[in-house]
Amino acid sequence: MHIHKFEKIWLIFGVATLLVFLSVVGVSAFYLGNQPPSCLATINPEKVDTTAPFDQPGLKKVEGKEWDYELVFVASAFRYNPGEVEVPIGAKVKVLATTKDVVHGFSVAGTNINMMLEPGYISEFTTTFDKTGEFLILCNEYCGAGHHMMTSKIKVVEK
Ligand code: CUA
Repeated sequence: MHIHKFEKIWLIFGVATLLVFLSVVGVSAFYLGNQPPSCLATINPEKVDTTAPFDQPGLKKVEGKEWDYELVFVASAFRYNPGEVEVPIGAKVKVLATTKDVVHGFSVAGTNINMMLEPGYISEFTTTFDKTGEFLILCNEYCGAGHHMMTSKIKVVEK
């Protein structure tokens, strides 16, 4: 069977592109350890207020874990609880968040924290805040009439 030269070049280009793409995904996943955000932890969205740790939103010191603090947020239309929180600088913090009603966003301006909060699931992100200042938390998933007013604030302070 005769294959035209350009056809061959195009086929080789296609296969090479695929291999490059798969290598990038492979290295990223298995060598650099990048994984999609876990949605493995579930919660009954109707019982968020009575389910630990979401019954007590805010910052909590923890012992014997890989992180120093747990920062718990509950989102609902159109607010976050807590509406403002202080975090000591340099602390390793695990953020745990969920929503009581619809899908909300959880994006912390000026950091790489950006999660989607889905009813029935717990979103997690572990990070270290190493700059003092005020960081605005914004909802970046359209959730209704008050979407644009849905904010909270993380204040990173000296210990
Ligand atoms: Cu919550 Cu938009």
